[in-house]
Amino acid sequence: MPQKPEPPITSIPHWGHVSFFIHEMYNSLALVYREKVYDFPFVRMINVMAHLLEVRGLTVELPTAAGWVRPVNEVSLRIGAGESLGLVGESGSGKTMLSLALMGLLPPGARVSGEASLATEASTKQLTALSEREWRDARGGEIAMVFQEPMTSLNPVMRIGAQIEETIRAHPPKLRANEVKRKAVDSLRRAAVPEPEARAEQFPHQLSGGLRQRAMIAMALAAGPRLLIADEPTTALDVTVQKQILDLLDRLRRELQLGLLFITHDLGVVAQVAERVAVMYAGRIIEEGPARNVLAKPLHPYTQGLLRASPTLKRGALAPIPGAVPQLTALPPGCAFEPRCELRRDECALAVPAFRIIGSDHVARCILV
Ligand SMILES: Nc1ncnc2c1ncn2[C@@H]1O[C@H](COP(=O)(O)OP(=O)(O)O)[C@@H](O)[C@H]1O
Ligand code: SF4
Ligand SMILES: [Mg+2]
Repeated sequence: MPQKPEPPITSIPHWGHVSFFIHEMYNSLALVYREKVYDFPFVRMINVMAHLLEVRGLTVELPTAAGWVRPVNEVSLRIGAGESLGLVGESGSGKTMLSLALMGLLPPGARVSGEASLATEASTKQLTALSEREWRDARGGEIAMVFQEPMTSLNPVMRIGAQIEETIRAHPPKLRANEVKRKAVDSLRRAAVPEPEARAEQFPHQLSGGLRQRAMIAMALAAGPRLLIADEPTTALDVTVQKQILDLLDRLRRELQLGLLFITHDLGVVAQVAERVAVMYAGRIIEEGPARNVLAKPLHPYTQGLLRASPTLKRGALAPIPGAVPQLTALPPGCAFEPRCELRRDECALAVPAFRIIGSDHVARCILV
């Protein structure tokens, strides 16, 4: 099988302009027709082609007592405006560390290499080269993040509305106090928070878990980011509320043409929100492709194992993957999944398998593909 060349990283300021033009165009059309013009095929195609986020060979290294470890290892991915990429993998596979790298929030002492560029309205920002000052503008302004447990991100002694207003004030444009207040309430309304004026006056502990997550989403989107990273945003919620939050994120993605990086350990959840799926194992992406292909015809034995272990997707008896994600300090020399893989051969231990491609856009790191 031919090997997939690493995707080229291109400087695409003109695509940023095209994407902006498209935004303006369908906003105008929406006003006229009051229809979902963002679902028009040509709008989708051009927006997805204009990659909003382009990550190439991103590596994060952290110092530990046993030496440097790589929780994120040579990761490459792309997300277009209005496109959702689901990132799945077991706990400890590096999903959160990747999202923290894209938010400029890595632990002290972390070393980052590789490239991550974000197309903004004016230019393309190299995220790995931003200063802390530049990160303060980009974070919340152009990239925002929603975490698993909203209580860890919300200030417990500050009213919900005031917290959203803080985010709005931290980013341009400068607005008058009453406009900031109105915008905060509008953000809550957009996140389908009922009685948004009253909720804005409440403290986080007065809201249910589902409403708190809606408030977090409202806060994340208040300053108009183009990319939203949602890290296990529904893991702490019961199934009914989970579905409502997934539907909300899906609607906001399409309406606002957000790029969405949706992180979860649950393939059932990813099936509901992601158009494309990337599977992460021991710091590397080991499979990526359209969601319908990865979930229906997975190529990598690890993805196949995840599907057999998924209570929401698997019919019949569940079959957990034996063993655990390897310690980053003791990674096998070849395929990191080799110690757990029922299909392993001698050559699997020799070198990290390169990506092999099936069809036009489905890739996996396995010698059997
Ligand atoms: N501050 C740190 N120093 C060293 N290793 C860390 C640190 N934080 C997390 N790790 C390691 O990085 C790996 C990836 O963690 P994480 O990104 O949280 O995984 P996931 O979100 O997929 O569960 C884990 O092996 C974890 O032990
Ligand atoms: S490369 Fe070998 S060990 Fe790794 S997943 Fe494929 S068959 Fe299994
Ligand atoms: Mg995590």
